[in-house]
Amino acid sequence: MTVTVLVGAQWGDEGKGKLVDLLAEQAELVVRYQGGNNAGHTIVRGGETFAFHLVPSGVLHEGTLCALANGVVIDPQVLRREVEGLDEAGIDVRDRLRISPQAHLIMPYHVALDEAREMAAIAGERRGAPANAIGKDSAVIGTTRRGIGPCYADKTARRGVRVEDLFDTEHLRTRISAALGETNVLLAHYGHEGFSVDAVFDQIVAHAEFFRPFVTDVGALIERIAERGGNVLLEGAQGTLLDIDHGTYPFVTSSSPVAGGACTGAGIGPGRIDRVIGVAKAYATRVGAGPFPTELFDHVGDQLVDRGGEFGTTTGRRRRCGWIDLVALRRAAQVNGLTELAITKLDVLTGFEQIGLADTYDVGEATETAWPTLTADVLRATANVEYLPGWTEDIDAARSLDDLPEAAKVLLRRIQDSVGVPVTFVGTGQDREAVITLDLTPVAR
Ligand code: GDP
Ligand code: IMO
Ligand code: MG
Repeated sequence: MTVTVLVGAQWGDEGKGKLVDLLAEQAELVVRYQGGNNAGHTIVRGGETFAFHLVPSGVLHEGTLCALANGVVIDPQVLRREVEGLDEAGIDVRDRLRISPQAHLIMPYHVALDEAREMAAIAGERRGAPANAIGKDSAVIGTTRRGIGPCYADKTARRGVRVEDLFDTEHLRTRISAALGETNVLLAHYGHEGFSVDAVFDQIVAHAEFFRPFVTDVGALIERIAERGGNVLLEGAQGTLLDIDHGTYPFVTSSSPVAGGACTGAGIGPGRIDRVIGVAKAYATRVGAGPFPTELFDHVGDQLVDRGGEFGTTTGRRRRCGWIDLVALRRAAQVNGLTELAITKLDVLTGFEQIGLADTYDVGEATETAWPTLTADVLRATANVEYLPGWTEDIDAARSLDDLPEAAKVLLRRIQDSVGVPVTFVGTGQDREAVITLDLTPVAR
């Protein structure tokens, strides 16, 4: 009988998919409210691995409705492939999928532009072009090259193509023509061939009948289910520190993964939301460029990559790894209004002699406990890492706090106390069964 928002509290890949799969058992509806197929949400069940990029991670529960709300950007080809893949796996989502007519479509020229910009930035860096405005890092964002940024840019510029445009062919042609007028100039700037209106129109209109049966007012659907006492789960993609406003701009994605984004991205009011669960790894990772104060550049970072299997679900890129950053997590708690914390991948820390965490940053001469006001200060911040003792016992089979070694409990308590939000889930392995579920009473002392 609740509406729950589940958000990434770090830089994405926190293990949101697994938590959504777990919570979806009790949910009538799971809704994606932002992002697109830049997301990669992995679920492991009894040794079988599923990775979803667009379809909500609740899809494995046969009775659960799955919706892509207005805030999502949809690459039609990718969605079709995902639905067909589910068909092949014997999971019927066609009766359960709902799509907002106001969701925007990722067009082939968005993908081309994303790719062209990244390539140009990389080439510029090789030539020694000046670094971007903030000065310390490069102009390369390291996007997933899925067309996300250009699609959201067109949305905001009122030049986008929405799902509902598929059903009015003349209007669709006009929309594509208007967008391509400018986009082809940009593509030419990057030395990329332009797109013809006819070719894009033919490619896109071919998806109209695929989309038609799914079109639903998703906000109204959430309202109906919540009104009659059903559970709704809003699944965030990416993470708080990749948020277009609250993340480490410009090294961010182009949408609002934070809990507030669930309101605009799904069409519900803030008063509808009962729980906000922030998901964080027991350490930290980041894919792509941008500040990461607790990043490890030594063999300990390599060990986290190896033991945590830290390679991207979407692009296969090696994830940068570091210790858990409590300054950043406090920021995530504040920005999202977290009511609960889920700490994942605690098992990955087994075997480390000591476990680092950062509770403060040094910024110039000052020691700060709060997230720096200026992004430039996040870039120059040095995390003050302190160490807690590690443990050697395998914790994969732990299903209650009592099954954990004392050192693991000390770490969880420290995270909870420092962030000021109760830890209600602890991930102890990749499989969906490998989790400790706690109530809202703080981790026992
Ligand atoms: P998401 O994008 O937040 O859904 O996360 P990803 O799926 O991209 O990456 C998280 C990875 O960690 C996936 O391979 C998960 O199967 C895995 N994972 C999630 N929770 C745990 C956990 O508690 N322990 C371990 N070992 N792996 C986990
Ligand atoms: P999930 O939902 C981790 C990162 C990219 C890049 C930046 C911008 O699996 O947690 P974009 O393609 O969105 O324009 O790229 O954001 N990024 C993610 N990092 N997890 C994700 O999703 C991500 N989606 C985008 O690596 O740095
Ligand atoms: Mg991911």
